[in-house]
Amino acid sequence: MILIDGKKVAEEIRKDIKIQISKLIEDNKPLPGLVTIIVGDNSASQVYVGMKSKTCIELGMNSKVEQLSGDISEKELLEIIDKYNKDENYHGILVQLPLPKHINEEKVIEKIIPEKDVDGFHPINVGNLVIGKDTLFPCTPYGILVLLEKYNIKTKGKHVVVVGRSNIVGKPIANLLLQKKENANAIVTVCHSATSDISQYTLQADILIAAMGKPKFITEDMVKDKAVVVDVGTNRVDDQTAKKGYRIVGDVDFENVSKKVSYITPVPGGVGPMTISMLMFNTLKAYNKINKL
Ligand code: GUN
Repeated sequence: MILIDGKKVAEEIRKDIKIQISKLIEDNKPLPGLVTIIVGDNSASQVYVGMKSKTCIELGMNSKVEQLSGDISEKELLEIIDKYNKDENYHGILVQLPLPKHINEEKVIEKIIPEKDVDGFHPINVGNLVIGKDTLFPCTPYGILVLLEKYNIKTKGKHVVVVGRSNIVGKPIANLLLQKKENANAIVTVCHSATSDISQYTLQADILIAAMGKPKFITEDMVKDKAVVVDVGTNRVDDQTAKKGYRIVGDVDFENVSKKVSYITPVPGGVGPMTISMLMFNTLKAYNKINKL
């Protein structure tokens, strides 16, 4: 079994981005900038946004965290987004999800101009992804593609089974792997909450992508021998022995599943670190496109 070291690959990508930003600095070019908008005080969101901002600064990008009150109106939030749409200092705009219930997530996503949509959630970017055009791809799915590529795991003609159909992970990874392209070209099955007997599908997977947000849902009896398993889950479970009172557990029962697979991503240290690196990649990509570099 080979452990897919997402932390290491994520660091390699950051190093490369840092070099590109150093060149911009040498040439006296303006810096790429990311604004992260967070509404309310969801503690997991606070942690994610903090990590995103810290990474921006480490790589030499401009970072701004716009912390907004949980009772801000939808109209006010849309106005703030529009301000950043027009602000030349920011090439990426990210609104951390989930949003409070009184705010329509779709309206917010559609307000960000597609050129600055570093999450790749805008319908224009989603559409471009589906038809196979280069665009800003959602960070977690893109990170999975890069991990498979770095470990030389071929996807052409392979059966990929995705469990989960979220707009953030399940749907985009399924569509990315379906493309008639190098490092894609897979046969893709998507399972979800209405799938009865999920094992029937997961047992056929050459590559299994678990992205349904249920701790240790994928057990060893659901996985084919020598399969590749990608665990996207980041579930908080209570653990009184841990400093914070919780620990992070994947969607895969790693201890038992890892014994029969060829490759597996751990949690933490697998897909998670890649998400932030791909966000940095997207911010630089948006910057280059906006500045026609
Ligand atoms: N919440 C959970 N994952 C994500 C993500 O990738 N982007 C944003 N904006 N919010 C999230």
